Amino acid sequence: MPLNETPVLSVKNLVVRYGGGCPDCQNFLEKNRCPACGTVWAANDISFDVYPGEALGIVGESGSGKTTLMRSLHFDFLPDSGRAALRDYQDGQANIWAASAAERRMIKNTIIGIVYQNPALGLRMDYSAAANIAEKLIAAGDRNAARMTGRAAELLAAVEIMTSRMSEPPKNFSGGMQQRVQISKALANNPGLLLLDEVTTGLDLSVQAKVLDLIRKIKARYGISILLVSHDLAVIRMIADRTVVMLDGKIVESGLTDQILEDPRHAYTQRLVHSLI
Ligand SMILES: Nc1ncnc2c1ncn2[C@@H]1O[C@H](COP(=O)(O)OP(=O)(O)O)[C@@H](O)[C@H]1O
Ligand SMILES: [Mg+2]
Ligand SMILES: [Zn+2]
Repeated sequence: MPLNETPVLSVKNLVVRYGGGCPDCQNFLEKNRCPACGTVWAANDISFDVYPGEALGIVGESGSGKTTLMRSLHFDFLPDSGRAALRDYQDGQANIWAASAAERRMIKNTIIGIVYQNPALGLRMDYSAAANIAEKLIAAGDRNAARMTGRAAELLAAVEIMTSRMSEPPKNFSGGMQQRVQISKALANNPGLLLLDEVTTGLDLSVQAKVLDLIRKIKARYGISILLVSHDLAVIRMIADRTVVMLDGKIVESGLTDQILEDPRHAYTQRLVHSLI
């Protein structure tokens, strides 16, 4: 990618630990855990950039820190240290983790969209699909019912949900449809960056393929940047232009997805790639 382009997202030296730490911590970790004090270093000095229009994949086994990273970016908690900048927030000059609560809400409503593995975290299951989208539009200041209904219809069409079903609640929908509603909700205010955390994990393979195909279409249609995490390299391969490999809270390898698949360098990545074939 062009090196002179401003990243949509730039993360530098992110650290998230569960536990207070101790003087021995960084020297004797067993996987991501300090045997002396029990602190888990879930994200341990993570840095990467996401460029305009690209999909960056983060792959790693369960416990490698992928969700911790996503939740930090969505302000579910503030990290212990590190810095993240968004192109669309103060021209990429400010650390979003130092933003005020009101600014963080604004960022979540308009600059970043997130789709969770568990649809119940991203959707109100008892509200209609259209109302789920309207909720996001209202959070960004819209008050015009007709316009919101029109926008909901347009977004649901983009994720291939029939307009005739837009007043039904997501609890009536299949798992694949629920993920598609979550995606449309995340796109409601035209964010520049979409965060996808294991969005197809647990779905049947055929449904998974359909959702992944849809994500590719959305990326092409809106030119949106995507940060996608999964334990499954097969999923990453379908979506990601570049890939970062995480193990025990650290990045062990990164590069073009094709290159990583053809010539994995780290022993862990080699195992991941070989298990694909
Ligand atoms: N709330 C928590 N308290 C303590 N440890 C946690 C908590 N959440 C996650 N962890 C630990 O942090 C590490 C990273 O977890 P997570 O980010 O969920 O990984 P992944 O999404 O890659 O499976 C794991 O060792 C996990 O057990
Ligand atoms: Mg996870
Ligand atoms: Zn320790």
